[in-house]
Amino acid sequence: MKGVILAGGKGDRLKPLTQIMNKHLLPVGPYPMIYWPILKLKEAGIHEILIITNGDYLSFFEKLLGFGEGLNVKIQYRIQENIGGGIADALMWAADYINQEKFIVLLGDNIFEDSLTPYIESFNAQEKGARVLLKKVEYPSRYGVPHIDKVQNRIISITEKPNNPHSNYCVTGIYMYDQEVFQYISKVIPSKRKELEITDVHNLYIKHSQLDFDILKGWWIDAGTHESLYIANQMYFQKTSKGGGKWEDIS
Ligand code: DAU
Repeated sequence: MKGVILAGGKGDRLKPLTQIMNKHLLPVGPYPMIYWPILKLKEAGIHEILIITNGDYLSFFEKLLGFGEGLNVKIQYRIQENIGGGIADALMWAADYINQEKFIVLLGDNIFEDSLTPYIESFNAQEKGARVLLKKVEYPSRYGVPHIDKVQNRIISITEKPNNPHSNYCVTGIYMYDQEVFQYISKVIPSKRKELEITDVHNLYIKHSQLDFDILKGWWIDAGTHESLYIANQMYFQKTSKGGGKWEDIS
């Protein structure tokens, strides 16, 4: 299985830190944020990784990660031409990298504890469709929120940043797809905030009764705000001994 990490966007909520720097190159612990999704893929045995980012920052990523040789993974890159065009727009740039196979997508600002392995196993057991991972959160309105049918244990719909959320869960930025995703992306239209929303893509999967889910057990952080970036750093330094730790210790 291949992995795709989305590392574009405008990073508006982290300004002025992101005025001249891509969000995913900001520090979480002693590493640039992008190391963490790479680590999670590697931990699950995924070594072929595509990073999608903005043209302005491609050379930064290349300088930092090369082709992944230092981290024992194989990295390729694509540029999302429409900066901030949305998660679904960014993902479209992975179409030629994925050859009819199932794959996993991580939003580059999602930092989390769980190993991906059991979720990938469940997805592999799924004949087709997509799988998302949910997490109970304090402020669901900040995220994509699922409306869950508890009797049938299925997601009825997902709403992006709703004022009146249907549940206390958010759809985290960990997505697993079959090849159909690119067809669905081509069907979605820009939202009010002028983005191709991944939530709209998930709603198309729901319409075809092809969206399954699991609930994350460990902690999960969307490090896209000043406060959550701070918390992500705190988690790192609490988790590792003496406020330090190396890549090898935590991988
Ligand atoms: O973190 C989980 C949430 O992520 C989900 O619950 C939401 O449904 C989903 O829309 C997303 O919401 P955010 O508002 O947090 O998305 P954000 O704009 O921060 O982008 C998330 C990641 O995707 C970030 O690492 C950058 C990347 N991205 C984003 C956009 C808009 C791109 O690569 N290109 C883009 O055009």
